[in-house]
Amino acid sequence: MKVVVIGGTGLIGSKVVSKLNAHGHEAVAASPNTGVDTVTGEGLADVLKGASVVVDVSNSPSFEDTAVMEFFRASTANLLAAEAAAGVTHHVALSVVGTDRLQQSGYFQAKQVQEDMIRDSGVPFSIVHATQFFEFAKTLADSATSGDTVSVAPIKIQPIFSGDVATAVGRTAVGTPVDGIVEVAGPDTFTLEDFIRQGLAAHNDPRTVVTDPNGLYWGAALGESDLLPGPDAQLGETHFADWTSRQ
Ligand SMILES: NC(=O)c1ccc[n+]([C@@H]2O[C@H](COP(=O)([O-])OP(=O)(O)OC[C@H]3O[C@@H](n4cnc5c(N)ncnc54)[C@H](OP(=O)(O)O)[C@@H]3O)[C@@H](O)[C@H]2O)c1
Repeated sequence: MKVVVIGGTGLIGSKVVSKLNAHGHEAVAASPNTGVDTVTGEGLADVLKGASVVVDVSNSPSFEDTAVMEFFRASTANLLAAEAAAGVTHHVALSVVGTDRLQQSGYFQAKQVQEDMIRDSGVPFSIVHATQFFEFAKTLADSATSGDTVSVAPIKIQPIFSGDVATAVGRTAVGTPVDGIVEVAGPDTFTLEDFIRQGLAAHNDPRTVVTDPNGLYWGAALGESDLLPGPDAQLGETHFADWTSRQ
């Protein structure tokens, strides 16, 4: 089965490509680095020739509100139109657990638009909602740092290893479209403060991490459990403590 992985050179995408190829599928990485640009449409028709499944694990190069909205609008529109023309029968996209609860944030408004466009496209689809990747701890910390202190929202998080996300995305891609959402999360729940502290400690990062009772998450005021998945989420097998000890 030919599976085109948009964003196949990225953190998740490169792992999805390896895993699918290891299972005997023909997975093709597509991104600007391989000559495929979903925002301009360059190279799309060619790479989709003969593809049954498209996996979209791309991300906007800029997280600025307007830029990220323009990226997901243009990229998703071009991709879905090209898929319809090529006869693709399953569109798989990676999004974030709780996207609908995070709509104060420009990034998550853009992810919601991406999801809505997929639902309206007529192409059979599966949306994988993942929680935050282990690797995302530093980015989260950097976005909440003032001086030597990281000040985070009073919320819980159930982060997941990128390799476990890639496994779930790959399995979804070779399965039947669910025309809905599949949730995946890590095996353990933390306060955001503990997750960031342990993530920074693994890299000998000396910053202090504190909880701000009024702190925002990526620009959004959240309830304590808004980042957590529902009871039916598939759980990754990798524990954060094991992952940090390997860093
Ligand atoms: N971070 C988290 O904790 C988290 C949690 C849940 C879900 N997600 C979702 O996971 C997805 C993937 O994240 P990631 O961290 O794996 O991303 P990443 O490592 O930043 O990779 C982004 C990929 O997008 C590609 N790309 C950028 N512009 C493109 C364009 N114009 N056309 C086609 N491809 C383009 C890049 O290609 P080049 O290498 O060629 O530039 C790269 O392959 C995102 O949609 C994100 O919303 C993230």
